[in-house]
Amino acid sequence: MRYDFDTIINRKDTNSVKWDFYDCEVPMWVADMDFKVATEIKDALSSKVNEGIYGYTLIPDEWYDAYINWWKKYGIVHKKEWLKFTNSVMPAISSLIREFTEENDKVLIQTPVYHVFFYVIEDNNRIVEENKLIYDGENYSIDFNDLEEKFKDPKVKLMLLCNPHNPIGKIWTKDELKKIGELADKYDVIVISDEIHCDLTNPGLIYTPYISASNKNRNNSITTLSPSKSFNIAGIKTAAISIPNENIREKAFNHIQIEGLSDPNLFACSAAIAAYNHGEDWLNQLRDYIYNNKLFLDEYLKEEIPDLKLVPSEATYLLWIDCSKLNIKSKEFNDFLLEKAKVVFSPGYEFGENGDQFIRINVACPRKLLEDGLKRLKKGVELYKEEFNI
Ligand SMILES: Cc1ncc(COP(=O)(O)O)c(C=O)c1O
Repeated sequence: MRYDFDTIINRKDTNSVKWDFYDCEVPMWVADMDFKVATEIKDALSSKVNEGIYGYTLIPDEWYDAYINWWKKYGIVHKKEWLKFTNSVMPAISSLIREFTEENDKVLIQTPVYHVFFYVIEDNNRIVEENKLIYDGENYSIDFNDLEEKFKDPKVKLMLLCNPHNPIGKIWTKDELKKIGELADKYDVIVISDEIHCDLTNPGLIYTPYISASNKNRNNSITTLSPSKSFNIAGIKTAAISIPNENIREKAFNHIQIEGLSDPNLFACSAAIAAYNHGEDWLNQLRDYIYNNKLFLDEYLKEEIPDLKLVPSEATYLLWIDCSKLNIKSKEFNDFLLEKAKVVFSPGYEFGENGDQFIRINVACPRKLLEDGLKRLKKGVELYKEEFNI
């Protein structure tokens, strides 16, 4: 079956965060796609609605099987006892931070990175320790010397790894993951590997699960998994954590349970099961579509807005755009584009200080909408240059 990713769906006035938060025509910010989900997911949810009674629900064996079978393609067989349902990723990470660190301990992140990683550390009165990624003007890489220096501090108890990495779109290699695992093991740091974007790789590319890189990785980690980004079901609130190490697992599962994060709403398991058991064809067509959107954007920037440059993207539908030629302050720049061109992106400063010369563009939308957004960006850049004499 061919799925339709071209039709523009009107999401305004539906209480959509993406569409109704800002007063704009083309929202290209929060990680949510403007595509209808796979028919099988909609059917599974309709069938639940049609039951007509919405009482408390158990987690069926099919839920475990769906996760276990899905990850086989990535060379990992999660065991049933490693898995626990959580109703989304960030509340689970927040809970794990509370369990595995004390107030004023440090949690390491690799910036620029998903902004909620900052909030979840700081809101828990822990301290952000940055291992800044190295940007050479084209690509990003990990500064392993700095990582080791930071890990030496006994206050660093946890690392939040983004694998693949939002917003730079990088798939970490097995060697890189192994090196992180070795250092984490040496300095007794637990790694939480957030793999929420793992299915959204460019066609032909595949990600490496953190725990598959080595036994050390397997023993010092917690992995967060979810169909929510891959299948556009973030509003359903459905995710999982997987923990091979028994000691870590016991503490983590207890804490997640105590904090009330492991009781699914009625739709959460059905959506995940339908996605993993029946969504692969939809997902592969989506990956092709997004990849072509990436190529379209790259061409458009080169031809029409040469002041902006795409950082090469291997994964996610979130593109990291280098605006350093314009010497922007990303918040002002983003606000300016919203006001003058009615288009909105994610300003790079949100992802860390070293993101301030960037914006992040969400290209998970029909091509015509992408084109509209890029035309608005072009107009906005022209006005910005005029206004600030660039
Ligand atoms: C890396 C990463 N983790 C987690 C989330 C959010 O997950 P959830 O909605 O399950 O809390 C996002 C959303 O964009 C993300 O990019």
